[in-house]
Amino acid sequence: MCTHLLYSVSGKRNLLFIPGPVEVEEEILLASSKPVVNHRGKIFHEIFDDTKRKLKEVLLTKNEVVILTASGTGAVEALAANFAPGRKALVVNSGEFGSRLAETLKVYGAEVVEVAAELGSAPKLEAVVSQMDSVKPDVVAFVYNDTSPGVRLSYARELVKEAKSRGALILVDAVSAVGGDELRIDAWGIDALAGASQKCLAAPPGLSFVVLNDEARENMSKDVKSVYFDLRRYLEYSAKSETPFTPAVTLFYAFNSALERILRFGVEKWISMHVERAAALYRAFAALGLTPFVEEEFRSRTVLSFTTPQSVNAAEFRKALIEKYDIEVAGGLGKLKDRIVRVGVMGRIPMRDIVALVTAVGLEMKERGVEANLPEALAELAKLATYEHL
Ligand SMILES: Cc1ncc(COP(=O)(O)O)c(C=O)c1O
Repeated sequence: MCTHLLYSVSGKRNLLFIPGPVEVEEEILLASSKPVVNHRGKIFHEIFDDTKRKLKEVLLTKNEVVILTASGTGAVEALAANFAPGRKALVVNSGEFGSRLAETLKVYGAEVVEVAAELGSAPKLEAVVSQMDSVKPDVVAFVYNDTSPGVRLSYARELVKEAKSRGALILVDAVSAVGGDELRIDAWGIDALAGASQKCLAAPPGLSFVVLNDEARENMSKDVKSVYFDLRRYLEYSAKSETPFTPAVTLFYAFNSALERILRFGVEKWISMHVERAAALYRAFAALGLTPFVEEEFRSRTVLSFTTPQSVNAAEFRKALIEKYDIEVAGGLGKLKDRIVRVGVMGRIPMRDIVALVTAVGLEMKERGVEANLPEALAELAKLATYEHL
């Protein structure tokens, strides 16, 4: 048997500070261990409706939600399959996931124009608006929080406003932002948005979702080149409290429980926990000699990326954290491989784990000859203790 499956849920394992999947609380893991039921039967119907209701509440939206048995890529693909065919799309690209969004829209038949920036930054809003005026796109698409460099599109709200005033349909990949950052789907006017279970909503991986407003539903392509991701089918079945294809029933149990957890904690508090934790950790890591990779205006609240001092090799540093402290942080993707360290801080993380992370990073920096001020770094965390018992 695979050794991992022999571990108990509370057994020895690495602490995950990667940008998803994240640690899942025990009550949520246990929720998925209930019997599998008929996905066309009454019990599932209730679970389906309740999960949708809770998801809308957590997302602070009145729009329609469609839950997919697929990872976040599936939800993004569903956006592309249903809104790309034959349309001209402007993609704001601030990293690997922006490139993937552009690629996916092309696969499903959009003519794509990209507006990009240097890695570690985002295009200026004025540059995007001026592209909108020259390209006149039918669709404007962006990744709210590009997980690969840790770039947050801080002007998302203004961008949506500018694009809407020009009549474009707005598609957003918010996979690594939902639940962990300010996001007002309805008030900002986002037409269609993709999210996933395993990041800031802190459920196990395997489910994702699409949020659609009326305009999006009225503007779905009539030429969808996908069976699994044809959102019309999901909307039709949703009226019967079902999905068109077999859903991951036990993941629905866990997702429901994770959403319940957030509602109990308080949605606004859950989000501000992420925002304040990120701010404290940027300060703490700076005290330890790490430099934020992203310029301040665009720094992510859920994926914190850093360059190490010249004397510290990023890949070896990460390896040492795993081997000596059982702590996993991520490296860079694509061109940023071995150039940056990314720390995923998503979902509710016990204070002791945050203290362990900061302490391990501090000790390891010292070990490598860096002047790391560990007491100062730890002092930054004190305020976060207010979230500990919620
Ligand atoms: C911004 C963003 N979009 C899409 C994805 C793809 O999600 P998944 O890995 O769940 O397919 C990720 C995953 O990290 C992501 O961060």
